[in-house]
Order: sequence, then C-alpha cells, then structure tokens
Amino acid sequence: MSSIDEIKARIDIVDLASEAGVKLRRSGRTQTGFCPFHQNTRTPAFVIWPETGTWRCFGECGEGGDIFKFVMKKEGVDFKEALRRLAERAGVQLESFQAEKPEQKEENQRLRNLLEDAVTFYRHQLLNTPGGKPALDYLLEKRKLTLQTIENFGLGFAPHSWDATLNHFKAKHYSEQDLLDVGMLAERENGGYYDKFRNRIMIPIRDENGKMTGFGGRILDPNDIPKFMNSPQTVLFDKGRLLYGLDRARKPIRAADQAVIVEGYLDVIAVHQAGFENVVSPMGTALTEDQMRLLKKFTRKIVLALDPDVAGQKAVLRGLDAARASMDREGELGFDARGMLRNEARLQADLRVATMPDGLDPDEIVARSPEEWKKLIEAAKPIVEHVLDALMAGQNVNDARVKSEIASQVLPLIEDLPDPVVRDSYRQMLARRLKVDERTLIGKHVQGGPPVRPVKRPGVEPAQVQKPEKAAVSASNPSRKLEMACLGILLRRPDLLPRLDRRLQEAGLGALSVADFEYTDHQLMLGLIQQSLEQDHVEQRAFVEARLDESLKDTFLALMALPAPSGLDDHVIDDLTRQAISVRAGSLTASVNQLRFLMEDSAGQSGRELARAYNKMVSEQALVKKCFDTLRQNMSNHRRS
Ligand code: UTP
Ligand code: MN
Repeated sequence: MSSIDEIKARIDIVDLASEAGVKLRRSGRTQTGFCPFHQNTRTPAFVIWPETGTWRCFGECGEGGDIFKFVMKKEGVDFKEALRRLAERAGVQLESFQAEKPEQKEENQRLRNLLEDAVTFYRHQLLNTPGGKPALDYLLEKRKLTLQTIENFGLGFAPHSWDATLNHFKAKHYSEQDLLDVGMLAERENGGYYDKFRNRIMIPIRDENGKMTGFGGRILDPNDIPKFMNSPQTVLFDKGRLLYGLDRARKPIRAADQAVIVEGYLDVIAVHQAGFENVVSPMGTALTEDQMRLLKKFTRKIVLALDPDVAGQKAVLRGLDAARASMDREGELGFDARGMLRNEARLQADLRVATMPDGLDPDEIVARSPEEWKKLIEAAKPIVEHVLDALMAGQNVNDARVKSEIASQVLPLIEDLPDPVVRDSYRQMLARRLKVDERTLIGKHVQGGPPVRPVKRPGVEPAQVQKPEKAAVSASNPSRKLEMACLGILLRRPDLLPRLDRRLQEAGLGALSVADFEYTDHQLMLGLIQQSLEQDHVEQRAFVEARLDESLKDTFLALMALPAPSGLDDHVIDDLTRQAISVRAGSLTASVNQLRFLMEDSAGQSGRELARAYNKMVSEQALVKKCFDTLRQNMSNHRRS
C-alpha cells in the first residue's frame, strides 16, 4: 500500500471537516453541510463521502477532492505540507523529503578546473610520450587529422594503465572523490578506485561556451569494448543537453544560418577540418528537444546527416514505430520522424534530412570529396518528404496496395502537424506523389487506416465503469487504479492529451480535467502534464520530472511502473480514451449520487439550481455511456479484421 493510501485509510474525512467547523448531517451514505471555503447560508452544498474519503462542494466553489486537498485548501498549504501534516497525524512514516541542493556554483568551477587539468594531462600523454605514440600515429595517419586539428579539439590520450591518471592527480592534491565526481575514476567492488579511461583517445566535451563538461574516450585497440566510453552523468556532464563541437561550431552555424548534425565525434572533427565548421553531434543518442533548443540560439535551420540505414531501411522495413523504439540505442543517431516533426513545429525550426550515400560516414565523404558533402547538405529534404521517399524507394507505386500502405504510414505524421496550412500542403504533396485523389486520402485515414491488431494491454473493461457499491479506501481502491491507468499512459505520452481532449469533445464531452480525479496527487500530476504541454522549453516528460515535488515521487514511480503503452498510436489513444472515460464515469457516478441526496433536502431556488446541475450530469453520463459503446464496437471491429 502506498503511503498516500495508508494515510487516507487511517484518517476520516468526517473528522477533518468537523474539526474545521463544518456542521455535518448524515444523509444516506453521505454527510452534508455548508462549504467551509466560502460564504454560504442558503444551500448545504458541501458533501462528504466517508467511504471513499472524498468531498465536493456543489455550490459556489465547485471544488472537491480528498483529505489532502481539504487540508491544502483549509490551511492554505501545498501538497507536500498537507502530506507531511496528515502523515504525522496518521502515524505514517514518509520517506524523508530530500532537501533542495544548495548553490553549487563554486564547487562546479572547482571540478571544471580539474577537467581542464585533465585535458592538459591527456594532451601531454598523446603528444609527448612513447605510450601515446600509437594513438598519435593513428590520428595522423589513419584518420588523416592534422596536428592543428588535434590541437583545436584538444585531443589527448589516456595511458594504458589502471592508475597512471589517478596517481598523477593525487600528486596534484586532488581527492579521489573529486576524480570520481567528474567521472574519471571507477570504483572497485571491494573498495578502491581505478582509472576509468585506459588506452583511449580522449575527446574533451565542452558546452557551447567552451566550458569543460566531460570526455568521450575512443578505443585504440579494436578488441576493446565499448568503442566509445563517455563520462558518466555528472553534475557537469548531461549528455542530452550537450552537443559535441558546439563551442567551435556556434559562430560558423550563425554565419551559415544552418547547423548540420552528424553521428560521431570523429565526423565532427573531420568535417570541421575539411572546412565545414557548422557541424555538431549528439553523443550517441537521438537529437533531443533540449539540443534543438540549444541550436536555435544560433539558427533555426537544422540538417540531419543520416546514415541511409537509419534514415531509410528502418522506416520502410520495420515501420515508423520501430524506428522510434530503436532510437535510444547507444551509438546511433536515431530517426524518429514523428518526434522530430513535433519538435520542428513546436520550436518553429526547419528540420531537414540528408542521406549519406554508399554506406559512408561523413568523415569518409569529406575525405572523398568536400564538394560532394556540400551538395549532399544542399539536397537535404523536409522530414515528411524524406520519409515518403524512403517508403517509396524500390516499390511499385502503381500498385494500389502499395499506395495504401504508404499513405497509412505517412498520413499519421501529417495529421500530427499543428498548422492546418502545412497539413494541407503535405496532403497535396502525398496525393501528387502517390497519384491519388486527395479526398481519398482524407477519407481513408478517418475511417481507420490499415487493419490493426487487438490491444493486448491490460485495460479496464467497459463493464467496470460503474463504481462498486462499497468502495473501501485501500490500495486496491478501484478508482485509484483507474486514475493510475489513465495517468500512466499520459505520463509517457503527454503529447496524446490534446488528441484525447479532441476525442472527448467530439463525443460531446468536456476535456479531461483535474476535477475528474479524486486523488490530490493525481490531480497535481495531471496539472503538471497539462502545464508541460503549454510550454515548449523542454521535453514534456523532463518538464514534469523537473517540477515534480518530492512528495509526488512515489506517485510518479508507481505510475512509471505500469506497463508502457505499446503498439500503434491509434491503439494507445483508444486505450487512453477508455481509461479516461472510466475515470470520468467514476467521478460522475459519485457526483450524481451525491447530488441526488442533496436535492431531496432542498427546495425553492437552490433546489432548482441543484436540479439543473443534476440533469447536466445525468445527460453527461448518458454521453459517456454512448462513447463507451462506440469504443467497444471499434475494438471488436479491430479484432475481427
Ligand atoms: P560511431 O561508431 O559511428 O563512431 O558512433 P565514429 O565517431 O564515427 O567513430 P569512428 O569513425 O568509427 O572512429 C557514433 C557516435 O555514437 C556514440 C559516440 O558519440 C560516437 O561518436 N557512441 C558510439 C557511443 O557513445 N558509444 C559507443 O560504444 C559507440
Ligand atoms: Mn565514423
């Protein structure tokens, strides 16, 4: 049982309300009184449902929630404080909330100085020691780098030793902890430390202002693994927020009004040496939104120089979803068309794809012909066009089945675009390229696209919409489970929330709102997800995580422990809609029951107001039911086909 459930189980909402001065009167399974949150003498519109530990005001403030929300409102405190107070009252031990990290500026500067010393040390090893000779020869002869380039990028060599680096820095009075903090040491199982980077070419990684953050270390011995060893995540080194080479590339990027993204460190270095200095690289991952945002300070035009494998085959052979699933693999500049389109739109960037020919890396292309590199980058195509080309390559596009297959892959990308004008123009392009009437494209997608597999995720069946007669407040509280299922999907795919809302609205229902959720932690979580969509500074999940108060960590972890939504987006959104409607149905049922009791007690003007609210809820209930039936029908259609 989570601590939140435990606290809820131990504290009676009736006690809390009574202590707050609310005079309650039993009315069937509910207790009613005057709302303590605003002036009110006409209608006892404040209702408590002791069995579920919830309350709602049907009058002026219209608010409701659980014991935490009650204390938050009553005492004017935040969730964390309410949780702390109620935990104490319930005698439940909370995992101690971690204190905020103090200002780390000075400490960071000290660690950066250490890293600068390390650059000097490794450079000396490369240029002036016999141990570094093979590495230097490799760079000069095999990689055709000049001494000037080696100097420009501060390349170095980590000695073939378990403790040479450690000893050097200990002699300079650095502590093992410092070396560990910047990621230069690894810890032995039985205690003690050893050099993390051994017999590797060392590539300093700086932020866009030239400040040291960490190293990438490339093997010299082809049998060593891994091929690249990067600094671990440290206070200074955050892979997803850095772009390799940006310190040197920022000016050229601005001058060219274009940034080119390549896959490897050595591609950056070689392409710079060939005279194209507007080139940077993410470090073995797909381009993140943070990285795009970083680039946007210098240009909005970004070209991805992709391996034909990544850019093409995967999209064609394994489907776009597979391309997305594989994008976090180490050492691969992933190509997630949908994610990139979304970022492109949100950041108002111009994202294009250039495909490298003949299985060559950018460093091999510039070695073959700098002119060719220039042409390839100039020929970069917008993402949708690139995906379409990749899908059409080698296919008989006159075959109706092929057309339909391709359309069903590309249309979802287009439908996702926020700008209707852009959507239209892409639809026209698709129709033109496939030689079909544009109207058939629209019809096709709306009617559901290609046959789909039945959803396998454990979901809540429509029969469970009704709240059980006796809802006990416990870990297995079905309404908590329902709410979790819904939020679990949204947390991983916040981008689906607008589509869910659109669906709900198309069915005549209101958008998903915090009022749908009974649990305060869930209300807060949805609030965060909503906020994450209103901003475009960081990726949504990162936004939620960054703003997550310590007190919501357990809830967050429990949600992330649920199975991740899988399969086509259409399935996921079906699933999500079903969960959201279940949540809505649950809260409606509770409200309708509560209102019914209230109405029996009221007459005159207030009675009529209540009746109006009641009727509205009852008709929404009917809509919810209808919506469910439609969904169920869709699902059995999917199964049949
Ligand atoms: P590549 O293997 O293509 O590296 O991985 P490269 O830079 O072109 O190296 P060469 O040309 O073979 O010497 C591309 C990038 O993926 C990351 C590194 O950032 C690398 O530059 N990577 C790769 C890792 O982080 N870990 C790995 O084990 C492999
Ligand atoms: Mn390479």
